[in-house]
Amino acid sequence: MSEVKAFLWKGDRLLILDQRKLPLKEEWFEAKTYKDVAYAIKEMLVRGAPAIGCVASYGFVLGIEAGQDPDVVIKELKSTRPTAVNLFWALERIKKAYDEGRDVEKEAVLIEKEDYENNKKMGEIGSVLIKNGAKILTHCNTGALATGGWGTALGVIRSAHYSGKNIFVWVDETRPFLQGARLTAWELSKEGIPHKLIVDSCAGMLMKEGMVDAVIVGADRITRRGDVANKIGTYALSVLAKEHNIPFYVVAPTSTFDLGIEKGEDIPIEERAEEEVKKCGYTSVSPEGTRAFNPAFDVTPAENITAIITERGIIEKPSWDKIKERVGS
Ligand code: MRU
Repeated sequence: MSEVKAFLWKGDRLLILDQRKLPLKEEWFEAKTYKDVAYAIKEMLVRGAPAIGCVASYGFVLGIEAGQDPDVVIKELKSTRPTAVNLFWALERIKKAYDEGRDVEKEAVLIEKEDYENNKKMGEIGSVLIKNGAKILTHCNTGALATGGWGTALGVIRSAHYSGKNIFVWVDETRPFLQGARLTAWELSKEGIPHKLIVDSCAGMLMKEGMVDAVIVGADRITRRGDVANKIGTYALSVLAKEHNIPFYVVAPTSTFDLGIEKGEDIPIEERAEEEVKKCGYTSVSPEGTRAFNPAFDVTPAENITAIITERGIIEKPSWDKIKERVGS
C-alpha cells in the first residue's frame, strides 16, 4: 500500500502537494509563510475539510515563528474558505494553545496525527457496514489527499478493501473541479482498488439498475440536527439513494460538527469563480459571455442520511439527541 500525503511539515516550512496539477504532475509547493499557506488553501492546491484544518494550523505556526500578530494570522487564514468548519475548529484549537503558552508546533503536529488516527478508526468502524462484494458510489475526493491521511469516506472504502472485502467503487467525476476524476481515481489506481469513473449524472441510472449497494460521502460541516454540507451534488445523490432504498452514509470526524448551528440553511456556502464551470481544465466549454453559477457545496438534510460514521462510533438516523451523545453538547 502506498501512503499518499497531501502535505509534509518540515519544521520551518510546509510542503503542499499541488492538487490542481494531479494526476498529470506531482509538484510540491513550498509554503514558507502563513500567507503562502492561505494562498494554497484559497486556490485549492490543498483541499478537503480535515486537510484544510491541518494545513491552516501549520500556517499559524509559520506566522508565529516569523513574529506576526496571531490575530492577524488567524483572521487571514480563516478568510480563505468559508464552508469547511475544520478550518475554524483547528485555528481555534491552536490559538488556545498559543494563549495558554503551549508549544504551537507540537499542537499542529498533534492535530495532524489525531486526524490520521481518527480516519483509521472511522475506517475500521465504517467498513463493518460494507458487505463483501458491495458496489459503492462516492463523490468528490475524501481520501488521503483530503485529510491528515487515510481518508474519511475513502478511508472506509480503503479499510473495507484491505480487510479483504471484494468491493468496487463508482467514482463521480465531481464537476467542476473534478476531484473525483483527478484525485479519487488517482488514489484508487495507486492502490489497485477496483473502480470506474462516471459522469455525475450517471448516478441515477446506476441506482435504478441495482448497480449501487451504498453511497458513501464525506462532510464539510454537520449541524446539531445532522444536516450535512458537502461537495455540490451530494444532496442530489441523497435524494436518489432515498428513492431507491440505498443506504446513504456520511463519514466525518467529530471536528466536522458545528454544534453552534442548528440547521443546514445556516451553513455558509462558498461560491467559487464562474470560470471553473465555464471551463473544463483549461478549455472553454461555453460561449463567451455565458454566465455561470458555482456553489461549491450543498446541504443534505438529516432525514436523507442513513448514518454518520465518526471516530466515536456510528450515529444512525442522525438527530440532535444522538449527536449530543457522541459529539457532546
Ligand atoms: O472543495 P473541496 O475539494 O475542499 O471539497 C471537499 C469535499 O467536499 C469533501 O467531501 C469534504 O471536505 C470531506 S473530505 C474528507
